[in-house]
Amino acid sequence: MLDNLGNLERSHTCGELRAANVGEQVVLMGWVANRRDFGNLIFVDLRDRDGITQVVFELMAFTEMVQETLISADGQIEFFTEIYDKAESLRNEFVIAVSGTIVARKENSVNAKLKTGSIEVIATELRILNDAKTLPFELEVAGLQNLASEDTRLKYRYLDLRRSQLQNNIRMRSKAVTRIREFMDALDFVEIETPILLKSTPEGARDFIVPSRIHTGKFFALPQSPQILKQITMIAGFDKYYQIARCFRDEDLRADRQPEFTQLDVEMSFANQETVYRIIEGFFRHVFKLIDVELPEQFPRMTYAEALRRFGSDKPDLRFEMELQDLSETLKDTDLEPFKSVLKNGGEIKAIVVKGKADYSRKQTDDLQEFVKIYGAGGLGWMKLGVPIKANFKAENLFPNSYLTDLPNFREFAKKHLSAEEGDLVLIVAGKKSVVAASLGALRVEIARRENLIDKNAYKPLLVTEFPMFEYNDQTGNYDAAHHPFTSPMDEDLETFKRAIENESERDLLGQVRAKAYDAVINGYECAGGSIRIHQKEIQALNFKALGLSIEKARERFGFFLDALEFGTPPHGGFAAGIERTCMILCGTENIRDVMAFPKTASAQDLMMDSPGAVDNSQLNELGIKIVE
Ligand code: AMO
Repeated sequence: MLDNLGNLERSHTCGELRAANVGEQVVLMGWVANRRDFGNLIFVDLRDRDGITQVVFELMAFTEMVQETLISADGQIEFFTEIYDKAESLRNEFVIAVSGTIVARKENSVNAKLKTGSIEVIATELRILNDAKTLPFELEVAGLQNLASEDTRLKYRYLDLRRSQLQNNIRMRSKAVTRIREFMDALDFVEIETPILLKSTPEGARDFIVPSRIHTGKFFALPQSPQILKQITMIAGFDKYYQIARCFRDEDLRADRQPEFTQLDVEMSFANQETVYRIIEGFFRHVFKLIDVELPEQFPRMTYAEALRRFGSDKPDLRFEMELQDLSETLKDTDLEPFKSVLKNGGEIKAIVVKGKADYSRKQTDDLQEFVKIYGAGGLGWMKLGVPIKANFKAENLFPNSYLTDLPNFREFAKKHLSAEEGDLVLIVAGKKSVVAASLGALRVEIARRENLIDKNAYKPLLVTEFPMFEYNDQTGNYDAAHHPFTSPMDEDLETFKRAIENESERDLLGQVRAKAYDAVINGYECAGGSIRIHQKEIQALNFKALGLSIEKARERFGFFLDALEFGTPPHGGFAAGIERTCMILCGTENIRDVMAFPKTASAQDLMMDSPGAVDNSQLNELGIKIVE
């Protein structure tokens, strides 16, 4: 039989009570996190969202309380009280209400790990408000490795969310969003909601589409971002817009990517890059105060080109060094293969020096070799400085196509040109520029992780600027918008931009055009991205041309926007920051699902609701949709 709450009211949360409360009568409510039964003494860890309080059920105390002792048939004294029996029936995750008196714990039983560890509640009343089945997995276990599989936890997400780590993360997220609203409001930004049922937006991922019943055969698209609408709020004269906006992108998922995620979305009129940078810096500074981190007033800046050259990535993690070093110039006259042909074909040779790791085993370097292959590298050259070279050493062990026959010289070379020292490990990739950057850039991060080179208490923000305007698409032979088609070219590159569009023979100049586009990167995560937009219709038309989008096609997709641009559009720009990525850093997790209440799996499913799922035929008929098997 379960009890009713009745008129009982909670006096405190389970995280609130301290030594100063000793002697008080309290009423606590929550879940049984743990029950330890010592025969005549039962301890219950009572948990609610605020913490855990130890509740003690003392048989003697109850017995005295009810003055009820029974002598059993064999002459033993049997203590019997209803409340003690009830306490014995408690199981994990039962929901209970307890009334009792707070007492100080004995010195040797103080639990320093609990906020409430210096006291306990001696129960005088227990109400069992609900029972619970045996849980499919244990909630609080020592060490992440002992947690149940993530799939099981996602299926029972409501249980997983009871774990203190997720409780803390979700509350941190809530605080972050509150702070964001405070910050934006103080700067006089207007929060404007934009629709979820929309037309295709231009972020370059696949759309999620929603069939219309009323307009059979027609579809809404869910916003990949409110990009066009926020620009329209500028045309509408709002001047400063923001929204905590839900975005939907049907793209391959990663540890920091979900099909449905949230942005702080911002747009401002009469703004140049500097105006926007100040908002980005201010917003991150304000939010990071939540974890007592003081980010710099001005974030360091680096152009995209420099980031790629030095770190092989447009989102460099600056918490450790190990920069990429270019050997292409030094080796320009080399006869060694594959260096010679790589350089001849316009590629490059770059190296990283891993300090003090000359003792890597063959297996470890083989592992790294496999790792760089994921990024398209043909192989990985390595050199251990200070480790004696074995007599049977073969040069081809260094690189699949064999190189560096003259090893002793290479040791000197590495010291001279790479500032490597005895004891260091040198890792080299040669190949197409993009492949060298991607593979060595990723290898740099991988090694830092494996070797614990990352200071977990460091927070290194960076503004990456001057992104390329276009990306060449190998498959279509076209240039795609690197950001989105409304991003403005840099003033310095406007002439090149126009030339490339006007002269077919110079089209590849598009690859050199830089955009007024920027990202904010923190600890290697792209936390925000934005740009100054094109606000003049002539430039917009040129840009569509550059993207190979005919006027008809552009009108079909964005006609309403092109019309709007003709009615006095102010210069404007903005950015969007990923709320999840920001919270990942605030919460110190590398898994985006840890900062979302109801995330999807890596294969874009909701295991709790079992979605996506089938729908009734009648629904499909109404929508005029037939499923092709
Ligand atoms: P962008 O596409 O760069 O820009 O997105 C902005 C920020 O949103 C976050 N983000 C994601 N987070 C989780 N899962 C995803 N799938 C995901 N995709 C992006 C990142 C990213 O930096 N409309 C433009 C902004 C603008 O130009 O103003 C836009 O959406 O943190």
